[in-house]
Amino acid sequence: MPVRMYRLRTMLTAALAAAVAAAVVLVVLLSSSAPARAVSNGLALTPPMGWNDWNAFGCGVSESLVEQTAQYMVTSGMKAAGYQYVNIDDCWMSSSRDANGNLVADPNKFPDGMKAVADFVHGLGLRLGIYEEAGTATCAGFPGSLGHETQDANLFASWGVDYLKYDNCNGGSEPTQQRYEAMRDALAATGRPILFALCEWGVDSVWTWGAQTGNMWRTTSDISANYSSMLSIFHSNVALAQYASPGGWNDPDMLEVGNGMSATEDQSEFSLWSEMAAPLLAGTDLRKASAATMALYLNKDVIAVDQDPLGRQGVEVSSTGGLDVLAKPLSNGDVAVVLFNENGSAATISTTATADGLPSASSYTLNDLWAHSSTTTSSSTFTANVPAHGVVMYRVSANGAHSPSASASASASARPTATRSASPSPSATPSGSRSPSASPSPSARPSNSAFCHVTYSTQSQWPGGFTANVTIADTGTSTINGWTLVFAFPGDQKVASAWNASVSQNGATVTAVSMSYNSSLSPGTSTSFGIQGTWTNSDAAPTQFTINNTACG
Ligand code: GLA
Repeated sequence: MPVRMYRLRTMLTAALAAAVAAAVVLVVLLSSSAPARAVSNGLALTPPMGWNDWNAFGCGVSESLVEQTAQYMVTSGMKAAGYQYVNIDDCWMSSSRDANGNLVADPNKFPDGMKAVADFVHGLGLRLGIYEEAGTATCAGFPGSLGHETQDANLFASWGVDYLKYDNCNGGSEPTQQRYEAMRDALAATGRPILFALCEWGVDSVWTWGAQTGNMWRTTSDISANYSSMLSIFHSNVALAQYASPGGWNDPDMLEVGNGMSATEDQSEFSLWSEMAAPLLAGTDLRKASAATMALYLNKDVIAVDQDPLGRQGVEVSSTGGLDVLAKPLSNGDVAVVLFNENGSAATISTTATADGLPSASSYTLNDLWAHSSTTTSSSTFTANVPAHGVVMYRVSANGAHSPSASASASASARPTATRSASPSPSATPSGSRSPSASPSPSARPSNSAFCHVTYSTQSQWPGGFTANVTIADTGTSTINGWTLVFAFPGDQKVASAWNASVSQNGATVTAVSMSYNSSLSPGTSTSFGIQGTWTNSDAAPTQFTINNTACG
C-alpha cells in the first residue's frame, strides 16, 4: 500500500480509537446501573469469523504462514463471505521478555516483527489476532501475561492487534475471573477496540460471567479432528443458549472442517456451529484446502444463519435417541432448522412448525441450505431423511401467517419487536414520561414473592446500546403455564430485539411473552430471556415486574 495512504489510515485509526475511548468514558460516566466493569468495546455484535493456525499447525506458526493465509482469505472469497480475523495462536514468542520486560516475537518465525504483520493484514482489509495467557506461562511454555497485563495490552495495541485470545494455563491460585478481568481492564485502558476471547475452557461456569468480561468464551476443553470430539462439544455448548447475545458468544472452539473428519461430518460441524451462533474460526491449512472444504467454509446461506443480527443461539427443540432438532429464530421472522442425526445409520427426522417457534400459516417454504433447493408445503410437519452423522438444514419461512394472537406466542417471537404494534398494557406509563421516579402501575398491585421473582441484569454495553438478561423464577407452589411479563424502563431504553421471549414495547412499558419451549415453569425452576436495545440519556434498570398481572416479589 502507498505510504501516504497508510499514514492517512493510521491517522484515521488513531482518531477512531480516540473517539471510541471518549465514548466509552462517556458511557461509564452516564450509566449508573451498569455493572461496574462490563466489557464495553462494542465489538462482536455478530459472532466473530476468521482463521486460527492452532488446529492445523500447533506450534508451527510463522509470518509467512500468516501472511499467505491472509492473502488467500482475500483471493478465495473468504473475506467477502465475512471472515475477518487472522489469528496467531501459541508459540509466536521468544522464550523470555526483553530487558524492558516486553514480550518479543520469535525472530526466526516472525523476522519482521508483529507490527509489520499487523500492517500487512490491515493492508488487506483484515484484522490481526494474537494469543496470550492468564497465567505465568502459556500452555506451550512461553511467557504469560499474569502480572504484566497493562504492559502487554499496551504492546499489543501499539502493534495494531485487534483480537486477543486469552488462555488459562499456569494460572496459579488467583481466581480465574479476576485474572481475566485484569486483562479486560488493561485492554480497555489502551483505547484500542480489541476483541477479547476468553479461552477458559468452561471451568468456573464462564458463561455466567463471560459477557461482562469478554466477547466470547470457550465452553469446553480443546476440540480435535474427530466426530466424537465434535459431538461431545456440541452437546455441552448447545445447552448454553441463554447466555449468548450480541457482543458475547458461547465458543465451542475452532472449526476442524478440512482436518480429517468425513465430508458429512465437516458439514455437520459447520451447520451446528452456525446454528449455535458460534464464532466461525477456520482451523485448517486454507492454502491447501480442497474445493469441497472451501465450499463448506463459503456457504453464504449457512453463514447468514450464524451472522443473523438477531443474535440468538439456536436451541434444541427435541432430542430423542440421537436424533436432534434445533431451531434458531432469525431477524426477518424465518427460523433456521437443523435436523441432526448423531447415529451411525441414516434416519428420518420430523419436526413441526409450532415446535420450531414458527407461526401458524397457510404454507411454509423450506430452503435447503446445503442442497440449495426450495420447497413449499401446506403441511406444518417437516420431515427429512438424514444421513449418518449428517444434517439437513432448512431456513423456513411462514407464508400468509395468521395473526400472532391466533397462534402460539412463538409465532411473533422472531420478528424485530420495534416494528410491531404492541397492544398497550393497562399499566402503560403515559408516553413521554421519562422520569426515573415515574412508577409504572405494576407497582400498584400487591407483590407476591410466593409466586414469582424476576431479576434484570445488564450484560454488556456500548455507546447508546445494551444487552440485558431477565430471569423469571417460579417461587410459588404451582406451575406457571405460559407467562406474560410486564415491566417499565425508568430510563429511555428502546428494545430493538430479543431472544427466548417475544418482546414488544409501548412507551416505557415492555411486554415479554414466553416462547413455546419456555412457557411452562414448574415451582422452583427459572428461565431467562435477553434483550438488545438502545438508549440515550439513562439506562437505569427496571425494578417492578408483573407476571400474568400479578406483581412479583
Ligand atoms: C490451549 C487452548 C488451545 C490452544 C493451545 C495452545 O490448549 O485451549 O486452543 O490455544 O492451548 O497452547
